[in-house]
Amino acid sequence: MSNDNKAYFDRVASDWDEMRKSFYSTSVRNKALRIAQVHPGCLASDLGAGTGFVTESLLDCGLHVIAIDESHAMLNQLVRKFDGNDLLKVRVGEAESLPIANNSLDYAFANMYMHHVERPWRGIQEAFRTLKSGGVLVITDLDEHNYDFLRQEHNDRWLGFNRDSIRRWYFEAGFKDVELDCVGESCTSQSQGSCDFADIGIFYAYGRK
Ligand SMILES: C[S@@+](CC[C@H](N)C(=O)[O-])C[C@H]1O[C@@H](n2cnc3c(N)ncnc32)[C@H](O)[C@@H]1O
Repeated sequence: MSNDNKAYFDRVASDWDEMRKSFYSTSVRNKALRIAQVHPGCLASDLGAGTGFVTESLLDCGLHVIAIDESHAMLNQLVRKFDGNDLLKVRVGEAESLPIANNSLDYAFANMYMHHVERPWRGIQEAFRTLKSGGVLVITDLDEHNYDFLRQEHNDRWLGFNRDSIRRWYFEAGFKDVELDCVGESCTSQSQGSCDFADIGIFYAYGRK
């Protein structure tokens, strides 16, 4: 279903941490954890965990983490960093069929993941399924934009999202207390093939099951 994405992230896995630094900073994950009001000892998923950008902060805060990604190579980088940490479980999985039991999580996080997912509304429904009653989903992702080079150069599937669409997908999945706002920083990227320079707002979306 998302083979192109998988091939792309398998290819860039060893460079991803450096690439990520040029796109957005750690304040994005700090904001996501603050909005979710995480508590030590709780169980969270990191969806599209990649090399562990959000996982790292969740572990630092004392949460149990299930890191999920469809790219083995990205997860290999993650495992290399956090190997031996008893709080961490790592699973290969796809957005629409997460390898997580129903009603089992306190939190789900998804940073810069949904714009790669073929049917993001299904990804949101699937996150809902995995959360306990009262559990929280926080997505951090790109606002709608026109930088088409991100499709060719970074395999983005969606050119960001209209916040009203995300809000609607949250409500349709069953979330309540839905809230969206700016993270307070933008994602930047210089095209390798043209003079285009992307500067795109980042939103957070909160919802409670
Ligand atoms: C832009 S990276 C973000 C990684 C990490 N969350 C971060 O902030 O550094 C997107 C990640 O989502 C994963 N991904 C994309 N589509 C996916 C899908 N349909 N199912 C599971 N993982 C997916 C990719 O393999 C990649 O690791």
